[in-house]
Amino acid sequence: MSKMSDTIMRHGKAQRIALTLNGRERSGHCEPRELLSDFIRHELGATGTHVGCEHGVCGACTVQVDGVAARSCLMLAVQADGRHIDTVEGLAPDQTLGDLQQAFQRHHALQCGFCTAGILMSCADYLRRVPDPSEEQVREMLSGHICRCTGYTPIVAAVLDVAARRRAEASTEEVEHA
Ligand code: FES
Ligand code: FES
Repeated sequence: MSKMSDTIMRHGKAQRIALTLNGRERSGHCEPRELLSDFIRHELGATGTHVGCEHGVCGACTVQVDGVAARSCLMLAVQADGRHIDTVEGLAPDQTLGDLQQAFQRHHALQCGFCTAGILMSCADYLRRVPDPSEEQVREMLSGHICRCTGYTPIVAAVLDVAARRRAEASTEEVEHA
């Protein structure tokens, strides 16, 4: 048992944890059984992360933990102590939409937007690992997210579009540096 877990078990009260949120060091207090999703939203004020089902099904609460997409409703806040957490706010740190968000805008890949933050965080992680996905692969990746509005087709188009643009940019840079 970690030192923090031991302390929590003995005292059963709010604990101070520190983490890096979107590149900035942050800290706050959480109850031992508080979900990471609630801590991010209520203690750190990063309300871009949405909460839907709260049991790992809808994907709305997806963030990145140390660079890997994870459902923040399935993780305790204390488990994030010392970790790097990225949320949708980090995709546009200077209020300028990133390329993935711009692709969603171009393809009308959102309507109510409730699912969008989680989908963007999954896509951002996925495209780092799979820069040239097929439509089938993108649809499989999206199967971990529930969107009640779009029918998914414009989301798939946006992901394929941004992947193609990134590959084109990368090959142009390679030619310029050859
Ligand atoms: S709120 Fe976390 S998966 Fe639905
Ligand atoms: S845009 Fe409404 S749930 Fe996806």
